[in-house]
Formats: sequence, C-alpha cells, structure tokens
Amino acid sequence: MSHLEYADRIKTLAPYPFAAIDKAREKAKAAGQDIISLGIGDPDLPTPDFIVRAMQKATEDPATHRYPDYAGRADFREAAAQFLHARFGLQFDPDSEIVALIGSKEGIAHIPLAFVNPGDFVLCPDPGYPVYSVASRFAGGIVHTMPLLPDLNFTPNLEAIADDVAAGAKMMFLNYPNNPTGAVATREFLAEAVAYCKANKILLVHDCAYSEMAFGQAKPPSIFEIDGAKDVAIEMHSLSKTFNMTGWRIGFAAGSAHHVGGLGKIKTNVDSGAFDAIQIAAIEALNRYDDPAVTDSYKIYGRRRRRCEEILDKMLIKYLKSDATFYLWFKTPTTESSADFAARILQKTGVVLTPGSAFGDVGEGWMRIALTVPEQRLVEAMERVATEL
Ligand code: MLT
Repeated sequence: MSHLEYADRIKTLAPYPFAAIDKAREKAKAAGQDIISLGIGDPDLPTPDFIVRAMQKATEDPATHRYPDYAGRADFREAAAQFLHARFGLQFDPDSEIVALIGSKEGIAHIPLAFVNPGDFVLCPDPGYPVYSVASRFAGGIVHTMPLLPDLNFTPNLEAIADDVAAGAKMMFLNYPNNPTGAVATREFLAEAVAYCKANKILLVHDCAYSEMAFGQAKPPSIFEIDGAKDVAIEMHSLSKTFNMTGWRIGFAAGSAHHVGGLGKIKTNVDSGAFDAIQIAAIEALNRYDDPAVTDSYKIYGRRRRRCEEILDKMLIKYLKSDATFYLWFKTPTTESSADFAARILQKTGVVLTPGSAFGDVGEGWMRIALTVPEQRLVEAMERVATEL
C-alpha cells in the first residue's frame, strides 16, 4: 500500500532523541541486558506525598472534571506569582503576566509560533534542549546556533553573532542552570544577554526548569532579577524537576502581559489547558517549594553528583564540575563519536547514556549522564562503563 506523503517539515526531522534512546533501551532489554538508565532526565524519586494527596482529593470534586480555564486557574496563577516573589523577589500580575503550561516543553514548543515569522532568525544554544530548534523551524524560523563551549563556561559568545544575524533575529533561547551541561550562568552574563536582546529587539526566552535543583550556597537567578528584563524576556518554569513531577505535565510562563498574551493566544487555539486537579496539586507544591519534603531530593541528587564526579576523576575523564542540575557533562573517553560510544556501552553493558550530539553538533565529543538512579546503581553503571574503555 502506498502511504500518504509526510509534510516537508517532518520529512527531514530526526526522531526526538529521547524517544530514539527509549527504543534502543527496549531492544537491549529484550536482548536480556540488565538496564541502568542514565539517559533521560526523569527523576526516579517520587513526587512528595503532600502533592499526591492534594491531587487525590481534587480529582474527587466533579468541578475539576470539566474544561479548565485556558490561561490556568486564577489560584494557580496566584500561587505561581507568589512563588516568583518568595523565591526571587519578583512581582508579577497573576491575571495578565502568568499563563499555565502543560509542562514547560509545551510553552517552549509554542512560543515561536507567537513571535517568529518565516525567515526570522532564532538564536539557539548548541548543545541545547532539542525542542528550541525544532519548534523554531516549525514556525518557519531559521536556526542560528550559538556554541556553548567550556572556555566561556558554556555561555554563548554574543559578540560572535554576525550583525546581519542579530538584525534578522526575533528570538533567543537560553537555559540556566543548563541542560545538558549543568552550567550556571553568572548574573553578569544574564545582564549582557538582556542588553543584547534589548539592543537588537529580540525576545529572550529563558528556560528556567532547573532553577531549584542547585546544591551550592547561591541559588540560581531568574532572568527577571536583571533590571529591564521584563521588556525583552519571557521565562518558562516547570514543576517537573523541582518537585519530581515529570509525568504530571505542569509548568507556567511569566513575563509582560504582551509576551504572555502572545503565547496565550496560540495556546487557546491549540490546547484546552492543564487538568484542574493537577493545577490544584501544583498550588500546594508551589506554596511549599522550600519544604524539606521537596528540598531533600536536591540533597540526594547532589550526593549522587559528587559520587559520580569522584568516579570520573578516578577514570581520568574530564567533566564540568557544577553545583546544579542532575546532569553530568563529560568528555567522550574514546575516539568514537558520542553516538557510537553510547550505542556500544548500551549494547555491551546495559547502561544508557545520552550522546552529546543529541543536543547539537557542538555537543559532539561529549556525553551526558542523568543522575536518576540510586547511588549504588550509579556506581555499578560507572563500573560497567569502565570495563569498556
Ligand atoms: C532531558 O532529559 O533532557 C529532558 O528533560 C527530556 C525531555 O524533556 O524530553
């Protein structure tokens, strides 16, 4: 049977890296491998009980079974604004400057549709979360990659962007604390990015999904802690990693009424909002973001990070030492491509790693570990990798 042809936009689209990794993992599992997955950034620790209980109660109320408010429940938006105030000292109007998201991936995927015209440049970090560039292309944008390299602590060199690209750019994606590298941007860099976007009339989309997952003294900043950022930025927040809630699909965007309104207009036309019961549970989560039931997880991820760093040191493998995120970005220890190394390690040892090339060409030569298994399994995974070097 001849199949209907796919649209041009997906003909050359590579499979979503984590879906492809899932497939490879299932194949290795079927072949009898004992799998230890350090691939996708999906917390193994459970959502705190008090959030689960709030959800259970909320689902019993039939009022939550109906269509939710498009922009999110008023009390959810209020809780998001209060979180931004308590955590970062920021002021946002919950009615016009916050919109609920069905996970921050959804907001990231939709924002280019609101601001990018066909032919506009979109500045995307490389390595970077794959959705930035894919969503930009879906909107007809031309992706201009900004290399993230160790010499600038994995922040882009904005001065290196050509004048014609800057003049034709409409949007820039940034993400700190960073996935996949774990790098944390300085306030100086964020201020430079805000000034750059202001000078070039670019919307700065800051993906702030990992702001809470930090193990050092200083808490990572919001882009809005930079003076004047509200004029040029919108920030995506996610409850996924902060509260071990990846499966729940809930987050929010914050920014000026104009920027949030643009995203909201796209969303009302393509989705019907996040399930009310999830929003009610998310209110509890945001209200208690500094509760030990939440923050104890970060201590566990921090301990795993230190343990894994010690092992990499012993293996003489170079990596980025960081106090944030549950990702460890290390140099591919052989001459193979990162994809070949990941495929061989999976096939021979059952350990799932993410090749740096899954995050862009500049990610080649690097690998990412997600610290999403208990310490003992992590040590075992690293021992298995060591046998294959
Ligand atoms: C990751 O592992 O980098 C992401 O969080 C996975 C995803 O959001 O698809």
